[in-house]
Amino acid sequence: MKQFVYEYATKVYFGEGAAKEHLALALSSYGPNVMLAYGGGSIKKNGIYEEVTSILKNAGKRVVDFSGIMSNPTYAKVQEGAQLAKKENIDFILAVGGGSVIDCCKIVAAQAKTEEDLWEMEMEKHKFPTEVIPMGAIVTASGTGAEMNGGAVITNEEKQIKTGMAASAPRFAILDPEYTRSVPRMQVISGAFDTLSHAMETYFGNSDKDNVSDDVALSIMRNTVVNMRRLLKDIDDMEARGNLMWDSAMAENGILKVGRVTDFSAHQMEHQLGAYTDCNHGQGLAVIHPAYYRHIVKDAEEKFTRFAKVVFDADSAEAGIDALAAFIRECGLPAKMEELKSKVTITPQVLRKVADTCNVIKTNPRELSRDEIYEILMECM
Ligand code: NZQ
Ligand code: ZN
Repeated sequence: MKQFVYEYATKVYFGEGAAKEHLALALSSYGPNVMLAYGGGSIKKNGIYEEVTSILKNAGKRVVDFSGIMSNPTYAKVQEGAQLAKKENIDFILAVGGGSVIDCCKIVAAQAKTEEDLWEMEMEKHKFPTEVIPMGAIVTASGTGAEMNGGAVITNEEKQIKTGMAASAPRFAILDPEYTRSVPRMQVISGAFDTLSHAMETYFGNSDKDNVSDDVALSIMRNTVVNMRRLLKDIDDMEARGNLMWDSAMAENGILKVGRVTDFSAHQMEHQLGAYTDCNHGQGLAVIHPAYYRHIVKDAEEKFTRFAKVVFDADSAEAGIDALAAFIRECGLPAKMEELKSKVTITPQVLRKVADTCNVIKTNPRELSRDEIYEILMECM
């Protein structure tokens, strides 16, 4: 194992009614000015907005809305939120949504505390924020695990880059499976596939042999597949939704990553694909994963064989990848670039740009050249 320091920064309140039971107390030690951040309006239709604002008002908070956070949140939206937070003297940011709302708020929280441009500070000066407005997350769509980590994925439209930024993790996360009831079926499945991807990407990093993280990651993968299959039969199976909500947090809360390196190559390709196409994150991953794994299977055959057996009851490394590809189809997820919802037509030229601009990982079974990344992406056409 590599050296590590480990601490859980986020207190989790899980279960039905968690906001009603815990939100007021969770906010009691913060000032009165709360920024209530959300996306395109789903929380106004499903009653969550009303429930949360009434809890906040009864707790004596002044609520300032920050709305319209889009999927694949942009750096421009971060700046809008930071301006508002400064103007309104915000004491606490409450993100109510999926990964996009939570990520946007993490960076708003840091940008509101500095006059420096945060993108420039992190990407060019390699300095990271030390002061943030405290924030919390109420998850309404699970999958990313953003509620329990300090990273955020932001799209800089001007620079055509979608990438991870560092910030602070939420102080608390409220995970109520009931709050996800109205999530459209395809988003539920895409989110869960993202969870599966996080556990796979961690597992296929070059870990020490017999690292406990590998065993836990495999369990999360298997459990995610089992519960996704339950949802394919009945999308309103709330027990399965709850299981997946915790799988999602477990896969990205850092517990799998202590003392080891990870892969996350599929994520790097998907993030840049997202920068050019604005495609759905989980769906982009579904398209890329099998093609990527067929390229590296020989470089980590033992690991792929174990993955095949534990997650899909398949009996060889290659059969495991075939089973993953079949599972993607079984879920109705896109398996080809042309099946993705994209703001531009995905052409070989677009994929060349993606290959030329994505981060290249060095801790995967084999480092890929940009030409090989392009080849992988072209195989997804
Ligand atoms: O905007 P609204 O109207 O709320 O609609 C959203 C959005 O259209 C909808 N939704 C959310 N809760 C709902 C609901 N609809 C009905 N009922 C509800 N209860 O769901 C749609 C998708 O939401 P979004 O937040 O975009 O999805 P997701 O949670 O998959 O987040 C994706 C973003 O997270 C990043 C991705 O790159 C992408 O930008 N990621 C963040 C990570 C992290 N910070 O740890 C890790 C991931 O690998 C990922 O990269
Ligand atoms: Zn992801």
